[in-house]
Amino acid sequence: CGIVGYIGKRDTAPLLLEGLQRLEYRGYDSAGIAIQSSSGGKPAGLKTAKTKGRVRDLEERVPKRFAGTAGIAHTRWATHGVPNDVNAHPHLDPDEKVAVVHNGIIDNAAELRAKLAADGVTFVSDTDTEVLVHLIARAQSERLEARVQEALRHVEGTYGIAVLHADFPERIVVARNGSPVVLGIGENEMFVASDVAALVSHTRQVVTLDDGEMATIKAGDYRTYTTEGSRTSSSPETVEYAAESYDMGGHDTYMHKEIAEQADAVDRVLRGRIDDRFATVHLGGLNLDPRDARAVRRVKILGCGTSYHAGMIGAQMIEELARIPADAEPASEFRYRNPVVDPDTLYIAVSQSGETYDALAAVQELKRKGARVLGVINVVGSAIAREADGGVYVHAGPEVCVVSTKCFTNTVVSFGLLALHLGRTRDLSVKDGKRIIEGLRRLPGQIAEILAQEEEIAKLAQEYAEAHSMLFIGRVRGFPVALEASLKLKEVSYIHAEAYPASELKHGPLALIEPAMPTVAIVPDDDLLEKNRAALEEIKARSGRILAVAHQEQEKADHTIVVPKNEDELDPILMGIPLQLLAYHTALALGRDIDKPRNLAKSVTVE
Ligand code: G6P
Repeated sequence: CGIVGYIGKRDTAPLLLEGLQRLEYRGYDSAGIAIQSSSGGKPAGLKTAKTKGRVRDLEERVPKRFAGTAGIAHTRWATHGVPNDVNAHPHLDPDEKVAVVHNGIIDNAAELRAKLAADGVTFVSDTDTEVLVHLIARAQSERLEARVQEALRHVEGTYGIAVLHADFPERIVVARNGSPVVLGIGENEMFVASDVAALVSHTRQVVTLDDGEMATIKAGDYRTYTTEGSRTSSSPETVEYAAESYDMGGHDTYMHKEIAEQADAVDRVLRGRIDDRFATVHLGGLNLDPRDARAVRRVKILGCGTSYHAGMIGAQMIEELARIPADAEPASEFRYRNPVVDPDTLYIAVSQSGETYDALAAVQELKRKGARVLGVINVVGSAIAREADGGVYVHAGPEVCVVSTKCFTNTVVSFGLLALHLGRTRDLSVKDGKRIIEGLRRLPGQIAEILAQEEEIAKLAQEYAEAHSMLFIGRVRGFPVALEASLKLKEVSYIHAEAYPASELKHGPLALIEPAMPTVAIVPDDDLLEKNRAALEEIKARSGRILAVAHQEQEKADHTIVVPKNEDELDPILMGIPLQLLAYHTALALGRDIDKPRNLAKSVTVE
């Protein structure tokens, strides 16, 4: 979900709608806005508009005369309650004095709801947020800040909130616990948002709130304090990326733009990190001295979705290059199985956003048990990045399409760097170190070569768009590539896709093979080439259609996308890239909503 707020001299509604557009990738099933209206220079109460659907649907509902100089708005990804007009935020009390937008989940909402209902409160929505509105409206304190604090004292769960009150028209009160809130500092105007993406076209000076922190923003100033009321000091920081990084830059979709940016993005993650003299890399934020690195006996990588798949490739790289046993696991599963936390294990959390609740909760659980946790994260200063003991930023730049592409690639490259670094503190030779460095350096050029095949891949996509279901296979290094490629296809095209280790075909999935069930096979030119070819034969013998991604034409395949060869260990970085294009063009051929696939959100900040 996304929150945006504004207070200042400018007409608020258009500013908030623009902010919501920029946040829409975080949730897009309903949207709403509340404004402190004024008439003849005097405050005239709150005005609201909300609707199921997209921000453009909201735009149509916002009356032209929606003038006001303070307001809050929201775009939602439903958790409690179906997406409809009533459940859309902002939520208001019956007197329409208090308006609240909220990200996160209030765990004890049902209990609080029952208590309030027993007290005569009537609820109009199914949301947990409405509870908060009533609590604030019923609070007795004089100041708005104290009323919000009073309400929050009853609440268990996570929140990022912004509160507007008709009797306090010159301020917006915000609070954070587990769900991001950033203030944007302008010239006699202030912004608030759940994500800098909504602010950067107006200001790059931001203050990021910590958990348990609140802020009051007025047109000319702001102050921050804790939910207990003691002042905190927070001086503004300058955000790294300018507004243009969040624009589509001539492409029709963010997904296309982000796929196309990958050569540059990889170049950026390598920049300044390679040390040719010692055949290693410098990772400034790692916070792991060589002695600690040598003491690591096992590596456990945790992430969700695409980040989990990137972690699987990362685990293989670490095992191959550093010879440390390593594996990846979905963060959500890990944290619920009461894992044995071992002091000699290095834990690594992977996340594009640095906010995914399951990954964050896993990190917090690990820290509670005294583990050492590193992050491989894209968003600088995000919750997981702050919580971790150190890590590697993946420098993919802002990623807006819900379906991750460039961040996946940069994350895998970052794992290559980390594996090389760990390897060189152990038994990886200078010669092999140099070999990997040369391989890393070749990546941007090779990515450009792959992207140059877009036209042919688009043609293939036309053909495969007819499939109802597809199988993706690979072995060892190729298997996580197959997993990620199948995820890409299903997320964006809604075609069912399943990934299997090629070696497992004969243990079940072969039963599915027939002309209407095409297989995408990852066939690197490595020591498993012959084994992979044998799998292609098995499929062909059952009249299956095959699209191979390989380093040379595959005789048994109906089509081969030939990708440039790198070092064996780094091949997985490249082999998935043509399949991002395949997913993209398949979705395009099917007329899908590419940047905002149904039912999904970019960052899942709830459980
Ligand atoms: C959501 C997104 C996925 C993403 C996953 C993990 O499910 O739709 O694209 O891979 O979250 O996100 P993270 O920000 O932690 O990498």
